[in-house]
Amino acid sequence: MNIPVLTIDGPSGAGKGTVSRAVSRKLGWHYLDSGSIYRALAIAVLKQGLNLNDVAAIVELAGHIQLQFICEDDGLKVDLNGEDISAQLGMESTGNTASIIAAYPEVRAVLLQKQKDFKRAPGLVADGRDMGTVVFPDAEFKVFLTASAEERAKRRYKQLIEKGIDANLCQITSEIEARDRRDRERATAPLRPAEDAVCIDSSDLTIEQVIAQVMDFIRQSGSKTE
Ligand code: DC
Repeated sequence: MNIPVLTIDGPSGAGKGTVSRAVSRKLGWHYLDSGSIYRALAIAVLKQGLNLNDVAAIVELAGHIQLQFICEDDGLKVDLNGEDISAQLGMESTGNTASIIAAYPEVRAVLLQKQKDFKRAPGLVADGRDMGTVVFPDAEFKVFLTASAEERAKRRYKQLIEKGIDANLCQITSEIEARDRRDRERATAPLRPAEDAVCIDSSDLTIEQVIAQVMDFIRQSGSKTE
């Protein structure tokens, strides 16, 4: 049975999460937030106090973590070895550590099957950096969603201020640029559009406009979603 997959790749802050969740709800498909798998491993690594250069220990840990993803009305709840880590998932330190350990090919290899297992009927929306290039290269629909670093930093800054968290726009911009560089320049599964992906730049678009473009793309591609 053909299970359709829509991959949405792109840099941090381009709106992938919001768009992927909305589109998966509209289509009634499952949703994979692959970044949260790397983030959960980063939390486990930090909890154990592992050295970020100790690849063997990180790989060993990656093979043993138990993750559970529970879709709730107000977002995704993630349990790591039975403990709710949702509150720590979105922290900047978690994202930066995730980006460092995600550069190790051995770590990516261990996490590959965990991601492939999300492909279940009636379909899957997979959000990440290498969904269309490595994890689901045969996906029927591929989107690469981007936005300028300045625009992504402004969005992140606004989110933090709205949550009452102190933030510095210059620092956020340079962290976003450093993360982009690390994700793009790594040797294994670097951040880049798949050759057959449609690219959407969300810098001057609202989230609703991006969602509408993705839905149009799926309808026009003559899907097996009817
Ligand atoms: O999408 P995110 O910000 O939650 O991802 C956090 C980090 O995890 C990101 O900087 C790089 C890594 N990542 C990855 O290498 N491959 C993916 N498919 C998803 C995330």
